[in-house]
Amino acid sequence: PSITFIDSSSESRTIDAETGSTVMEAAIRNGIPEIEAECGGACSCATCHVYVDDAWMEKTGGPSPMEEDMLDFAFDVRPTSRLSCQIKVSDTLDGLVVHTPARQG
Ligand code: FES
Repeated sequence: PSITFIDSSSESRTIDAETGSTVMEAAIRNGIPEIEAECGGACSCATCHVYVDDAWMEKTGGPSPMEEDMLDFAFDVRPTSRLSCQIKVSDTLDGLVVHTPARQG
């Protein structure tokens, strides 16, 4: 499935992600800037923060309670905020668009 990352200066990068991996893993593997993922996907650092594009919010769904607690530590949290290590890549999410924040933490 493809995922498009749009960075804080509106530059867009589309990558091919593996089903079953997470959006964060796909980002790191493809050298997407503005995603740090310090904890390696354990939902305990909030440095993999992204904004899901409005058009995709329904498909990705919102954060779990645990993710929501962690999001409190993220910078500039919005209603579309998610931790990208908690979004699983699947065919349903083919074409997913996420925006990355200007900074993490
Ligand atoms: Fe640490 Fe997502 S990688 S919370």
